[in-house]
Order: sequence, then C-alpha cells, then structure tokens
Amino acid sequence: MTHAAEHKVDIDAYSGVFDRPDFADDSPHEQVVFCQDKATGLKAIIGIHSTTLGPALGGTRFYPYRDEQAALTDVLRLSRGMTYKAAAAGLQLGGGKAVLIGDPALDKTPALLEAYGRFVETLNGRYITAGDVGTTSDDMDIIGRSTEHVVARTPAAGGSGDSAPMTALGVFNSMTAAAKSVWGSADLTGRRVGVEGTGKVGYNLISLLLDAGAVVTATDVNALALQRVKAAFPGVAIAETVIDKDIDIYAPCAMGATLTDLSVRTLNAAVVCGAANNQLAVARVEESLRAKGVVWVPDFVSNSGGLIQVAGEIADTPRSEVEAQVKNIGVTVGRILTRQHEQGILAGQAADAIVRERLSAVAAH
Ligand code: NAI
Repeated sequence: MTHAAEHKVDIDAYSGVFDRPDFADDSPHEQVVFCQDKATGLKAIIGIHSTTLGPALGGTRFYPYRDEQAALTDVLRLSRGMTYKAAAAGLQLGGGKAVLIGDPALDKTPALLEAYGRFVETLNGRYITAGDVGTTSDDMDIIGRSTEHVVARTPAAGGSGDSAPMTALGVFNSMTAAAKSVWGSADLTGRRVGVEGTGKVGYNLISLLLDAGAVVTATDVNALALQRVKAAFPGVAIAETVIDKDIDIYAPCAMGATLTDLSVRTLNAAVVCGAANNQLAVARVEESLRAKGVVWVPDFVSNSGGLIQVAGEIADTPRSEVEAQVKNIGVTVGRILTRQHEQGILAGQAADAIVRERLSAVAAH
C-alpha cells in the first residue's frame, strides 16, 4: 500500500489494533498504550508504530474526538506517518504519536498534562513527545515536569523553540528541487508561487520565496494573518484563493486535503509543494495530478524540517548542522522525482519505496 493509499480504506469502519485491514500491507504497530487518570480527566492513547530506526518520536494532539475509536484511528494513522517522515528525512528515529481526548480550550490543565507526562515516562524513552495540534511549547514545558522524554519545549526551558522556520526552509528546498526537475533550473526568479495559509510556516516561506526572486500571491482565512504579511511584504498580492490562479507553484500551507478531483481540475500550477499534512483528499488524486502533468512533492518529505529540528534537539546538534540537514530534504526530493520519472511511478510510491528500503536495510541488521 502506498503512503497515500490508506485514504482509500474507510478507516472508521475498523476497531481495535490487531490485524487492521487499513494497515494490512504495512508493518503493524508495535505498541499502543491507553492511559487514563480519573483525578485529572486524562484520556490518552500513545501509538508506537515503529522503533526500527530509533525511539518513536511524534507530537501530542489534543482534540475533541467524537469517540475513542476516532481517537484510536487517528493515533494509528499519525504514528505510522511519523515512521515514514523520520525515515525519509534520514533520521535515527521511529514513528510515534499521542492523542489526548478532549477540548484543549476547556479540558487542558497543568495537572492533566503532568499526569500525561508520567505515562510518557513509563515508556522509558521508547516514545518521545512534542507539540502538535492543540498543544504548544508551553505545554511541553509542563509535560517535562514529569518526563524527560519531551522535545520542542520553549527556549527558556532548553527547547529549540518554534519549528516553523525550519519547516519552511525544508519546503523551500523541496520547491527548488522540484523546479529543477520540471524546468531544468532550481532558480525561482520570476516563478509565480501561490501560498495558501500565511500562518507560522506560510509566513516564513513567503520571506524565503521573495528573497529568491519569486512572485508571491497569498491567501488566508484569517484577516490578521494577512495583515501581518501585507505589513512585512508589501510586494505580495493577496487573493481570495490561490489554487485556481495563474501560478507555477501551489504551496498548501494551511489545512490538508485541499487536493481533490475537483480542485485539481482548476489547478494551473506545474508543481505542488507545501507544508500541510495529508494534502491529497484521496490517494487517486495523485493520478489526476500526474494526468495533468503536475509534479506533487509528497508532504511527509517536504514538511519534515520541524522533525529534523527536534531530532537535533535530542542529539544536541548545532543549529548550522540542523540547517544543513533540512536543506538536504531537497536532495531527497530530487531522488524521489528522478525515481518517479525513471520507473514511471507516482512520487508517493517513489517516496514510500525509499522509506521501505531504509527500514528493511536496518531491520536486516
Ligand atoms: P498555523 O496555524 O500557524 O497556520 C495555518 C494558517 O492557515 C492560519 O493562518 C489559518 O488562518 C490558515 N488557514 C486555515 N484554513 C485556511 C483555508 N481554508 N484557506 C486559507 N488559509 C487557511 O500552522 P503552521 O504551523 O503554519 O502549519 C501550517 C501547516 O503545515 C499545517 O497543516 C501543519 O499541520 C503543517 N505542518 C507544520 C509544521 C510546523 O513546524 N509548524 C511541521 C509540519 C507540518
């Protein structure tokens, strides 16, 4: 099964962890831990997909799941995705993720986060946590009171801080690699780039694109985010949407699943490369992109800069070395696109193949 093919299966239709048909073609999850604490209302699931390459690292998502099964499905999908992201980035890390069930605005308390940290600690470093949707660096500081297996804390607490600049740098280098593959030159001068979502990553990406001479059109649903862009980068055109505009590169940096059969019909760009996770609404959309001659850079490769940063935090890697590793994402993208071209396969399949080769080579030892 390709990385994206999991979308084909109605994953909500399955319960439990063992022998799930949605992960049938992949290695099964090694360990799934349910944690609850009555005093604080904590209900958490920690999913460890693989420790083949190293300890399983992945963020903690705090989200009001409609039920336990939805939370389980999400943690299984996300932790597997982290195995792929870490392997593609060349890191000595496995894939894991955790979900906390509840509304972070109402249910997130220091006591609950500390209770969660105690459960993370019981895993003795097989799982290392970080921030994700619904959790922040400040929350990681609190979790860090009860476990040492936490990264992405605030700089004041010894963490490496906001990962968005490194994520944006990885997306930028992925874009230049895709440009080289499509147009024969990595130079983005004059290339028209549509950035969808001008939040933490989008904003940093715009800055890099303008420095490289690109012509940027940006969109966001949040007026404040757009104002920040207008104030800092007066040359950026603001539009209601970017995906259907006359652009060379579409950079989804807001939510996932923006690439649908319908949206691909309106897309004029030759390259899609952005930070959003799970950009393809369903796997077959990559076929539609290829039919239109659009090159899609698999998201779990292009957006791995933040993960490389926190891996550097664990290994105490100097910032300059982390930056070099993030820029190297472009080399990986080049390899994926070459393989796609040579073997007549999809970029998602080429990326999956690279990951699986690395995992089996390490497992063989
Ligand atoms: P963010 O929350 O700072 O920014 C997202 C922006 O998208 C917000 O300004 C929001 O108003 C805007 N937005 C939401 N829906 C939109 C829509 N329909 N159309 C246009 N704009 C919309 O998030 P951040 O950190 O910039 O992340 C962006 C994406 O990249 C997310 O999907 C995230 O999961 C992914 N990502 C981020 C990483 C990081 O290091 N921050 C690492 C890997 C992936």
